[in-house]
Amino acid sequence: MRKKIIAGNWKMNNLVNEAEFFVNDIKDRINVNDVDVVICPNYLCLDRLSGILEDTNIHLGAQNVYYEDNGAYTGEVSAKMLSAINVEYCIVGHSERRILFEETNKITNMKAKKLLEVGISPIVCVGETLEERNSKKMFEVIEEQVINSLDGICEESLKKNVVIAYEPIWAIGTGITATSEQAEEMCKFIRDIITNKYSKDVSDNIRILYGGSVKKENAKEILTMENIDGALVGGASLKNDFVAIVNYD
Ligand code: PGA
Repeated sequence: MRKKIIAGNWKMNNLVNEAEFFVNDIKDRINVNDVDVVICPNYLCLDRLSGILEDTNIHLGAQNVYYEDNGAYTGEVSAKMLSAINVEYCIVGHSERRILFEETNKITNMKAKKLLEVGISPIVCVGETLEERNSKKMFEVIEEQVINSLDGICEESLKKNVVIAYEPIWAIGTGITATSEQAEEMCKFIRDIITNKYSKDVSDNIRILYGGSVKKENAKEILTMENIDGALVGGASLKNDFVAIVNYD
């Protein structure tokens, strides 16, 4: 039985005091034990939220990391630094990083491996553009992203620590959600890739999320699909709606 994950990706939003206010406001209303709830604020909020979340069942996640340990990498933050303030999850390979910052599968893979070294679970994002979907190339694109982003990661880590998030680019921040059938179809396809490349044991255990315009109105339908183990929520995670999404039952 795979435990669901609902992760909020705040992106570049919220000042530290706004983040603190919001989390204090919602934390007592997030009382679910059967779901891993994760909040991923910007770097500046991490340390403050780490203290606030300590006695809650909400986990802390980062939105980015660098793949070196330390040194002359101006502006970057290492996995060890995140781990030192109790970050447990970190998003890698988000389409905004891939598109705006030209991050490749190789970079995504290096970041994921570095996170695993310090015990942080990478949330590895994959997703196709609308053009790729319309020209029926989406399965090919997703397969390439999944295989290359996970390259060299051991089966034990895949089973226990790695999370995959299927986020069709055309559904991110657009208000257009993939239908639950489209989301399920691709999450099942990703699970099949994992079965073929690794084993049924790995694919039965790895958690695969859907992301892209998840909101309180569509959360339940998406989250109850067989191969969807949770959601990566952007816009709606900045609002009270996040509480409703987490309590989707
Ligand atoms: P959205 O973003 O929910 O605002 O579409 C999802 C994401 O980018 O992770």
